Amino acid sequence: MTEVIPAAAFDGLAERYDAQFTATALGAVLRKMSWRRFERAFAGREYLLDIGCGTGEDAIHFAKLGHRVVATDASLQMVRMATRKAELAGCVRDIRFVWAPMERLGAELAGETFDGVYSNFGAINCAPDLVTLPRDIAPLMRPGAPLAWVVMGRYVPWEWAWYLARGDAHTAFRRMRAGGVAWRGLQVSYPTPATLARLVQPYFVPRTVTPLGLLLPGSYAAPLFERVPRVLAALARAEHSLQRWHVGGAFADHYCFEARRQFV
Ligand SMILES: C[S@@+](CC[C@H](N)C(=O)[O-])C[C@H]1O[C@@H](n2cnc3c(N)ncnc32)[C@H](O)[C@@H]1O
Repeated sequence: MTEVIPAAAFDGLAERYDAQFTATALGAVLRKMSWRRFERAFAGREYLLDIGCGTGEDAIHFAKLGHRVVATDASLQMVRMATRKAELAGCVRDIRFVWAPMERLGAELAGETFDGVYSNFGAINCAPDLVTLPRDIAPLMRPGAPLAWVVMGRYVPWEWAWYLARGDAHTAFRRMRAGGVAWRGLQVSYPTPATLARLVQPYFVPRTVTPLGLLLPGSYAAPLFERVPRVLAALARAEHSLQRWHVGGAFADHYCFEARRQFV
């Protein structure tokens, strides 16, 4: 395991990722919302692929629900952290951890047939090529199998307001930059739901787009929301109502993009 993988960018974040996001009140609310979508999509589907598993929070959740999961990530430290957490959670036997970037999953997992594929909280935004990713993932999936990706959005009024109020127009509008944003050696892109639908369409049938952070803010506001739990709960309730109607995904911090593998 000596090869250098570009998305080792996340290696330095593995130790503190859960404290800074997963374990915050805001992070917990958002993840629960993503699980609601995933659980609905993958009900009765046994074998799941997690792309960019991070610290393994989702893989552990789905293993506990009885699924078998192949959890993959380009960051070795993330994979190590996830493995440790799965051991502690007592479900490491139901998860196969694979240290590999998503751009290599077609080759790494050739011959596998997944009943569903998910990716949570922005791993897809780190894809070096969003044209080839759907082409590589599709052959790993059963025809008709669901795909659910939680992707960072492009147009985010909450974030504009947050950073403009601090006089930081550069950060406020960075997601709209042509060619994406350079970050720790990665090029992070922010596709709209419509762009993503177009990119996956040769292999998938797009179904729904659900906001995850339209009324709720992004993780930059997590420390603030630790102090106002009632406001967080009220916004979460309102957001939940919007999610039922699948409105506003194009203007959310993240959106859950759901599609089905084509039958051809
Ligand atoms: C923001 S974290 C999300 C982690 C996890 N899915 C979650 O919900 O907490 C993004 C993850 O994507 C991984 N990642 C980035 N680029 C990747 C790539 N090219 N292939 C696979 N994983 C990648 C990172 O290492 C990181 O663990």
